[in-house]
Amino acid sequence: MHAKAAFLRPSWRTLQLLALVSVVLCVIVVYESYWGIPSASWPRLPSWGGVGGWDNAHPIDVLIADAAKGFKQALSSEAKSLEDAANKYRERRRRHPPPGFDAWYHFASEKGAVIVEDFWDQIYDDLGPFWSLESHTLRQQAHAFTPRIEIRDGNITMRKMGPHVRLDQWTDMLKTLLDQKHVQLPDLDIPLLVYEEPALIVPWQTIDTAMSFARPIPPAPADVALEYTGIEGVENAGFSFDPEWLGARRVHPAKANEGERPYWSLVRPACHPKSAAQQEPLLRDIWDVHEHTDEEHSAVNMLPIVFPDGTLQGYVKNWSVATDACKYSHLQGLHGAFVAPEDLNACVKMWPLFGASKFSMNNDILLPSPSAWNLSLASAEEYPPVNWSQRENKLFWRGPATGGLSDDNNWRRFHRHRFVSMMNASEVNMAEPLPRWGRNSSIGVSRSETFLLTDENPYQLANNGGNTLGSWVKSWADVAFTDLHCSEMIADGSCPYDEDFYRVDNTVDDDKFQQYKYTVALDGNGGDDGGELIERMRGGTVVLRASVYRNWYDNRLWPWVHFVPMDNTFMDVYGIMEYFLGTRGPALLQDAAARRIATAAHSWAEKVLRKDDMLIYVYRLVLEYARVVDNRRERLGWVADLDEEGRT
Ligand SMILES: *[C@@H]1O[C@H](CO)[C@@H](O)[C@H](O)[C@H]1NC(C)=O
Ligand SMILES: *[C@@H]1O[C@H](CO)[C@@H](O)[C@H](O)[C@H]1NC(C)=O
Ligand SMILES: *[C@@H]1O[C@H](CO)[C@@H](O)[C@H](O)[C@H]1NC(C)=O
Ligand SMILES: *[C@@H]1O[C@H](CO)[C@@H](O)[C@H](O)[C@H]1NC(C)=O
Ligand SMILES: *[C@@H]1O[C@H](CO)[C@@H](O)[C@H](O)[C@H]1NC(C)=O
Ligand SMILES: *[C@@H]1O[C@H](CO)[C@@H](O)[C@H](O)[C@H]1NC(C)=O
Repeated sequence: MHAKAAFLRPSWRTLQLLALVSVVLCVIVVYESYWGIPSASWPRLPSWGGVGGWDNAHPIDVLIADAAKGFKQALSSEAKSLEDAANKYRERRRRHPPPGFDAWYHFASEKGAVIVEDFWDQIYDDLGPFWSLESHTLRQQAHAFTPRIEIRDGNITMRKMGPHVRLDQWTDMLKTLLDQKHVQLPDLDIPLLVYEEPALIVPWQTIDTAMSFARPIPPAPADVALEYTGIEGVENAGFSFDPEWLGARRVHPAKANEGERPYWSLVRPACHPKSAAQQEPLLRDIWDVHEHTDEEHSAVNMLPIVFPDGTLQGYVKNWSVATDACKYSHLQGLHGAFVAPEDLNACVKMWPLFGASKFSMNNDILLPSPSAWNLSLASAEEYPPVNWSQRENKLFWRGPATGGLSDDNNWRRFHRHRFVSMMNASEVNMAEPLPRWGRNSSIGVSRSETFLLTDENPYQLANNGGNTLGSWVKSWADVAFTDLHCSEMIADGSCPYDEDFYRVDNTVDDDKFQQYKYTVALDGNGGDDGGELIERMRGGTVVLRASVYRNWYDNRLWPWVHFVPMDNTFMDVYGIMEYFLGTRGPALLQDAAARRIATAAHSWAEKVLRKDDMLIYVYRLVLEYARVVDNRRERLGWVADLDEEGRT
């Protein structure tokens, strides 16, 4: 990780070379602008090659081109018939499709769905470990838990303690599915988590062992059982089930005097033994009850100053890597969800629990979020096609300071706070280090102490180093909180610990983002973003997105095709905006690239993120879940397309 730091610090030789190349480039640029050729078609920065020699392509050009290729390739594997879909299923899952697969396929194709098997990968990630647990135990646990949805003979009942809007929305989703023509769901119990944050966090070793017992061995077609057995045995009185919650505040039983147990202490064992989260220590002082935090673990000092792992010269290459908190130990002190989860319950035992939110290392089974379901009911007319040239060439965002429960001691570690500060021109201005080329790095900490700027300029910003970053940010950023979500109750809405650093603006309409080219999707409370990402994409806006959560739609969206991925530290955000907006007047090619992303977001959202697509996802999930809790699960399958020998 630290090896990259060396090339960031230019040696005297490279400086000389740089000077020479700049002179040559200046001559070319002056010459070309004289002849009226748009500067956007010229290599904008001479030094991108840093590592492997000279190469004029901007890393984002490379990423966009690669992503377009990957997306095209995925689309080429779209299934065009039931048999085709079944074959692709067997290839990818190494099992027969579940009973009812034909009805599922007909439903999906009638709804005009794009059927690419990979789109449902999340279901298999979620359910995989359950193949190693006894099916009747899973059924009994599911039946013993409240709240749950019961499906019996095609009827739905919600079993719950009291009224709850999230549960009502999920019930509505399943009712809507059952009301569709030809849809048949097997009898089932679906236990639900009402909280916005994930619950199950099982140690990695346990899951690894489970997965090794869960290897599929597809039976010969003649031996396949074609019908679900049902939920036999669940009404057994006397079965009691204790999920063994770690307690609402997750206090470690043996160490109650140390105060609340940090969530990161549960994250680490749930991550791969070789992952950064496991290899690097838990920084207990972040959660010290007496607030004695080492200076080196303050928010700004935890921010990495070298490119994050798994990036192309600092820009996110792969969404599943960038969102995997196991890979970035610094997130324990730089993301609200880990610093101070809001109302998180946790348990380290494996049992079936459906929820709207999970980190990469959680074991909850993902459903589309209730609020996203509700929002999806809005009609397409509310999201007219992209009107690019009429939009302001700016990044616009409004939202509350959520993402965890901030307080006087920890708010500087919150991702939303960091982002809003980084988009604040006067904060940036005050943080700007003076240019000091070739000398020891000077570090500029922002006034709010939420972020820093270094004069090493790893992203090669044209606006860095001359005290111009702030005014440049001012020219395109319009970002503010709508609510400080303060933990110290004060009636007039003010917040004693951070109101000096944030101006609250709650005067704008929800759909205002459609007047801008760029917006951002940030993690809120739990992985449930309330449908915000889908809404922004439908609205045809370029969405800059960073997250530590997984979602049902992750495998159907391509970063750099449908949205712009960001690192969770946001250290790449200025580089991204400089790429799209240009450094010397309008960047015509990059503006066109942004417009392509906006257009793709709009049309792809209308194809694969519709209300119908949620139903198709849930339908597939229910069939798979019904199989994994069935006594005959190893033999259950759909094989109507195969003859006795297993040929199609
Ligand atoms: C479904 O529920 C309705 C109303 O509660 C009931 O009248 C009907 O008999 C139920 N159908 C089945 C198949 O259980
Ligand atoms: C992203 O990384 C994961 C894990 O390393 C890998 O399995 C996957 O194929 C990568 N995806 C792409 C699009 O490169
Ligand atoms: C559901 O969506 C409608 C608009 O379609 C909105 O008015 C309502 O407030 C939403 N309900 C919830 C609970 O979010
Ligand atoms: C989109 O463009 C049309 C014509 O160019 C204009 O009349 C309309 O107001 C624009 N819509 C928005 C939302 O700006
Ligand atoms: C920069 O300065 C610090 C202390 O001021 C020193 O420890 C470090 O070695 C210096 N780095 C370089 C590359 O000169
Ligand atoms: C920007 O930062 C300054 C200084 O910290 C603060 O006074 C101002 O309220 C901030 N603006 C916004 C929109 O948060």
